[in-house]
Amino acid sequence: MSRILVTGGAGFIGSHTCVALDEAGYEYVVVDDYSNSKPEVINRLNKITNKDIISYDINCCDKDKLRKVFEENDIDAVIHFAGFKAVGESVSIPVDYYRNNLDSLLTVVELMREFKINKLIFSSSATVYGNSKDVPFTEESPLGTCTNPYGWTKWMIEQILTDLAKAYPEMNVVLLRYFNPVGAHKSGLIGEDPQGIPNNLFPNVARAADGRMKELKVFGADYDTPDGTCIRDYIHVCDLAEGHVKALDYLATKNGGRFVFNLGTGHGYSVFEVIKAFSKACGHEVPNVVMPRRPGDIPVCYAGTEKSLRELGFVANRGIDEMCEDTWRWQTNNPNGYDDAIL
Ligand code: UFG
Repeated sequence: MSRILVTGGAGFIGSHTCVALDEAGYEYVVVDDYSNSKPEVINRLNKITNKDIISYDINCCDKDKLRKVFEENDIDAVIHFAGFKAVGESVSIPVDYYRNNLDSLLTVVELMREFKINKLIFSSSATVYGNSKDVPFTEESPLGTCTNPYGWTKWMIEQILTDLAKAYPEMNVVLLRYFNPVGAHKSGLIGEDPQGIPNNLFPNVARAADGRMKELKVFGADYDTPDGTCIRDYIHVCDLAEGHVKALDYLATKNGGRFVFNLGTGHGYSVFEVIKAFSKACGHEVPNVVMPRRPGDIPVCYAGTEKSLRELGFVANRGIDEMCEDTWRWQTNNPNGYDDAIL
């Protein structure tokens, strides 16, 4: 049976996508080097899906090893998640980011050409819209200037894949521009497990809620928004995962081309609104303190969702309360992330 290759399948979005693929009846194989994830994720996925997932501990830049995966499996399409993703870290070690993220994509694409596989879904980001003030961001919005090397790798890969689709008309490429993925699977078995000090709002709110962090630092309350804090389009990771299934179904109807879709809810929430929703989910006030603005943050970012609704039939159904409740369940069940024993 033909399979989907999921690179970075043990990561936050990758693992939830594996569950969505399983639910939709797709067979898949995971490649991950566990550089920013844990092999324990595979045990958890086995438990959720009640299957023995085929997985390979391989870095996607290692072409010879990755070729084996293509030889051993009848791959029909690739969903490429593997990549470094910490915005702050990318500023400190840009060369590593460019080397890893571009190299892994190019290696995957070369092997796809070699094995005549012509369906690719790429994990892009709303960061490619840059610091434009023109919200909502629609797929037609001009690409902006990224504020960090991580963002530029997404931007560059979009360009590479656009050129690829132009050069080889049989290639089908979907670029999915994610807004802010949060939440966790209902089982409490898989979720976001940032290594080191987290950058993103939700992992930090969860840490401030369970006492591992004294208080949440709110980066700026003097923006030109109703409550002064930045507004983002948070999307439940299970909705986002289902967006990948929609994209695969969509590709099955295409005979070549490059397609781009936002994956967001179309609604923005401020940092204070998130704190309020999270406080409700965890049953107590999340301690917080207002700090100066964080460099590079834009005041407002949310998705235009018409195109993904119209063409993919994609709707993000899970609301902010569910995002907070599911994050909290994951966090309380696994205070040390995947270092905790399976439940
Ligand atoms: N924030 C805080 N305190 C924190 C962490 C974040 O106040 O401890 C604020 C930020 O200043 C921002 C908002 O919460 O206003 C959201 O910040 P995140 O870091 O969670 O998310 P970003 O919107 O900055 O970035 C996310 C992803 C990037 C991606 C980008 C695309 O992390 O990978 O969205 O728009 F590129």
